[in-house]
Parts: sequence; structure tokens; C-alpha cells
Amino acid sequence: MNIIKAKDYDEMSRRAANIIAAQVLSKPECVLGLATGSTPIGTYKNLVEWYNRGDLDFSKVTSVNLDEYKGLTKDNDQSYYYFMNDNLFQHVNINKERTFLPDGTESDSEKACKAYNDIIHSVGGIDLQLLGLGHNGHIGFNEPCDCFELETHCVDLTESTIKANQRFFATYDDVPKQAYTMGIKTIMNAKKVLVVVSGADKAQIVKDAFFGPVTPLVPASVLQLHPDVTVVADEAALSLV
Ligand code: F6R
Repeated sequence: MNIIKAKDYDEMSRRAANIIAAQVLSKPECVLGLATGSTPIGTYKNLVEWYNRGDLDFSKVTSVNLDEYKGLTKDNDQSYYYFMNDNLFQHVNINKERTFLPDGTESDSEKACKAYNDIIHSVGGIDLQLLGLGHNGHIGFNEPCDCFELETHCVDLTESTIKANQRFFATYDDVPKQAYTMGIKTIMNAKKVLVVVSGADKAQIVKDAFFGPVTPLVPASVLQLHPDVTVVADEAALSLV
């Protein structure tokens, strides 16, 4: 595991974007696994700047996102579909038909998960998977549990995740309680993994996930077993290690 210490959020974002840009430059037809949440927003901003300077071409890129809330329509400004358009897709020349997320509007979980697994298999696997880190160690929406889930599945979000997400919704009742997420096996099958982490509130989980035992109770700890992981974290997030 390669850990890059950045001074602050801006430097973390710049360095993470450089790694993604390097992936796109070296393999223009690559498959990027993408994440939402607050941490990668700066990374996406930097990628948009790369594109605006004329230094990056997304026209041959395919993307598969980690997860989507179950029950939110695409035009809901809290859906991950909306987030990706807002933060990246509409600002670069990616082919929208080659950008994929689980279908949150599909109420039949089995159908939604199978369809998404089929998509991930059909694009030929992920070259570079970008991840944020949940306070409880979740990656995607793989919450702490007794075993590592393999492929796309429907999860009941934990109380801590629902509370963390509440800041984006009008009331607690509006926060979706379920989501579709890629499984741990799919993430582990990515050729490269890039984790972005920022802030002192993530310091304890950085320590537990990357320096503690590998356990499904801390899902991100499984990344210690991946052969090509880069963690880009700011000083605050690394303050306990
Ligand atoms: C987002 C996702 C989540 C977030 C995590 C951290 O697609 O899958 O695992 O990466 O909840 O979120 P932030 O970056 O908001 O702290």
C-alpha cells in the first residue's frame, strides 16, 4: 500500500486527480470506477481543469460508479447519478452512454443488482477504482458486517451512515435507508485502487483500516490485501499514524 501524505484537502485533490489523469493518458479507453461523497469533489474539479486546459480526453473512457441510493430518481439532486453529472460528466467529453451507475429507480433489488453486475462484467473490469472512506470503514456502501459481500447487492444503510448523509436532506425521513453497491470482490478485482481521505474526523478510521487487522467489521481493511492501492490523505487524516 502506497500512502501519499498531502498538506491539505486541495493538495490531496490535486494529487489524486494526477493519478487518475495518468491512468486516462496511459490508457485512453480505460474503465474508471468512480465514487461520490464530499471527498472526491476536489479531485473531479481538478480533472475538469485538466480537461479545460486541453490536456485530458475522456472520449474513450467508460465509468462505473460504486453505488446509488435505492428509490431516488435520476433528477433528484441527492442521487448519485445527479452528483456525477453535476461534478464531472457534464463538464468533460465523456460519452454519457458509457457512464454507468446502479439503477436506483429499480425497486426489484435482485434485478437491479444482476443488471449492474452484468454491466461491470461486460465492460471488462475496472482499471482504476476511486474510493472514499466512510467513518465506520465502509467502502462503496459495504457496511461493517460478518463477511465481505462479493458483488453488487442491496444494503440497509447503518444508522451512522444515515446520520452522516442527513446533512444533504431536509429531514431524517428523507434520507434513503437502502442503497445498491458494488461488492468487495468487484472492488478488489480492480487493477488499481485509489483512496482519498481528508480531515481529522477520519484519522481513527484511517488507522483502523490501513494499520489494523483485516476484518469485515472494517470493510476498507480488506484493501491491505490488494496488490496496487494508493491512499492519498491529508495530514489531518494521517495524524494518528
Ligand atoms: C460514495 C461512497 C461512500 C463514500 C464515503 C465517504 O460513492 O461510496 O463510500 O465514499 O461515505 O464519504 P465522504 O467523502 O462524504 O466522507
